[in-house]
Amino acid sequence: MRVKDMVAVVTGSGRGIGEATVKRLSEEGASVVVTDINIENAQKVANEIKAKGKKAIAVKTDVTKIEEVEALMSKAVEEFGKLDILVNNAGFNRDNLIKNMTEKDWDDVVDTDLKGAFLCSKFATPYMVEQKYGKIVNISSRAWHGNPGQANYSAAKAGIIGLTKSLAWEFGRYNINANAIAPGIIATELMRSHPKYEMIKERQLANMPIKRVGDPIDVANTILFLVSDESSFITGELIHVSGGRFG
Ligand SMILES: NC(=O)c1ccc[n+]([C@@H]2O[C@H](COP(=O)([O-])OP(=O)(O)OC[C@H]3O[C@@H](n4cnc5c(N)ncnc54)[C@H](O)[C@@H]3O)[C@@H](O)[C@H]2O)c1
Repeated sequence: MRVKDMVAVVTGSGRGIGEATVKRLSEEGASVVVTDINIENAQKVANEIKAKGKKAIAVKTDVTKIEEVEALMSKAVEEFGKLDILVNNAGFNRDNLIKNMTEKDWDDVVDTDLKGAFLCSKFATPYMVEQKYGKIVNISSRAWHGNPGQANYSAAKAGIIGLTKSLAWEFGRYNINANAIAPGIIATELMRSHPKYEMIKERQLANMPIKRVGDPIDVANTILFLVSDESSFITGELIHVSGGRFG
């Protein structure tokens, strides 16, 4: 029970890495708020967790909408009495070379992947400051190093690292840790539904010391470490969960 009696909000937890994370955290004793723009998926995941006798609620939230994010955090506290863990996981990519990337492609990705994490942190931290305890994990990507066709996504995921380090500085004195994870290729629906998945997979495996794609549980286990007290002297850090591929 590594996060016993903790209360966790994980954005985008209706499927993929977020789903694996809420399930892993609940196994280790946390009450979880399963939140996603897709409420059907969030409800399904929350029901699966509750069926195992654990505490979970589903809340529909679009992380780009300030009012919805504020309401999410107050709902978490209303339901479970406090808020200890925030995982900023909601995100997606919409790839195109810069010459073909529209302003909307840029705005949509940066709004969700970067502004969403800012908004969630902004409205979760007052509760954490009050209780002088909190853990924030932001999901970046190996793509923060830059990728052709991913200017919007790379910029957002690099921005997440700056946000994480700023959170660490602003909130360390309140016993709040903020860290980031940069996953490499992880076999989620997002990744597998990419039209060039097989090509991307082959190309990435050729440049990875560990010759397999990642599983959502690889990321969830790293999140668990970062939100447990085993990592209490780590903050502002970025951990690649990428089979050893960095650039
Ligand atoms: N899968 C990978 O290979 C990989 C690699 C690096 C980073 N990541 C990052 O990990 C995170 C999770 O990715 P995944 O592979 O599990 O993707 P996924 O598409 O399976 O899950 C993402 C979830 O976020 C939700 N979401 C999207 N926009 C939202 C919004 N505005 N508000 C609330 N929820 C929203 C989706 O509905 C979905 O349920 C993302 O930030 C992604 O960029 C994934």
